[in-house]
Amino acid sequence: MKLARPDIRHPRIVLAGCPALPEGDGDDAEIVGALRDRGLHARWLSWDDPETLRADLVILRATWDYIERLDEFLEWGNRVANLLNSPAVVAWNTDKRYLADLAAAGVPTVPSAFFAPGDAVRIPKGEVVVKPAIGAGSVGAQRFTDARAAREHAAALQEAGNTALVQPYDARVEDGETALVFLGGEQSHAFTKGPMLPAAGQRPVFDPSGTYAEESLTAADPDFELWDIGHAALDAAAAHLNIRATELLYARVDIIGGADDPVLLELELVEPSLGWRQLDRKTRDLAQRKFAIEVESALDRLGLGPFSHRRP
Ligand SMILES: Nc1ncnc2c1ncn2[C@@H]1O[C@H](COP(=O)(O)OP(=O)(O)O)[C@@H](O)[C@H]1O
Ligand SMILES: [Mg+2]
Repeated sequence: MKLARPDIRHPRIVLAGCPALPEGDGDDAEIVGALRDRGLHARWLSWDDPETLRADLVILRATWDYIERLDEFLEWGNRVANLLNSPAVVAWNTDKRYLADLAAAGVPTVPSAFFAPGDAVRIPKGEVVVKPAIGAGSVGAQRFTDARAAREHAAALQEAGNTALVQPYDARVEDGETALVFLGGEQSHAFTKGPMLPAAGQRPVFDPSGTYAEESLTAADPDFELWDIGHAALDAAAAHLNIRATELLYARVDIIGGADDPVLLELELVEPSLGWRQLDRKTRDLAQRKFAIEVESALDRLGLGPFSHRRP
């Protein structure tokens, strides 16, 4: 007979969604099971549910409404017992001004200019994308061929208190944007997203919850030149935040362009969709197992591992 082990801690883990999608959009549907396979108990809650404050560990997954409630979100992240990725990572990564830090560290990045409220906006020649520095799910992102319309959109973002981010439109996005997924700082899998923005001035199509634009995704096996940018981005982020890249439970690096000249569009360390559903059964099982193992090592690192309380 197996004896129960009352001395083993069972940390309470919460996967965090948002009020419109308290259990995420379905992509993470198998994560609770993958964690259970490793003896870990997890359940879904909307991040603003007070129950999250009683969990030992909260893992951000589908907190897509934080852009409208950023102060509240960051403050909540500091109050939960343990958050992954960590509050410092989240505070840095919720504002696309992090792109300037990555570019300064030498990561090939889509040229990005930031205009805080009150700053005079300069629009470069050619087609551009104007989007909020604090934004997700393509909300507020638009393409422009007319500089005046671009400036007006930037002014509207500034008036709403946001910093406007202006980038040249990179037409290579029409061949797809590559999403590289890292788990525990290590290369896991990848998928491709179709272009999100309709032609100049129009808005993307949003899902019924309104939190993100509809995406068309397919599996991908990117060239190592793309993965190299992913590794460089994680290393640069870790150096900037003074952490080890292995402390990032999940990371997604979005890249435009092929092996000849890939550039980083986004490094997602808050609530990236990890695209599990794009993987075949075997690859998906392995990747989700890796996710669960990385949660285990995070629990260990945070002093919540099964034998942690026995340590001096
Ligand atoms: N500079 C750009 N060139 C081409 N497409 C872009 C550019 N910026 C954004 N997009 C398109 O808009 C989408 C959303 O922009 P992104 O920077 O990823 O912000 P978020 O996903 O946080 O809303 C991208 O997935 C891409 O399809
Ligand atoms: Mg994106």
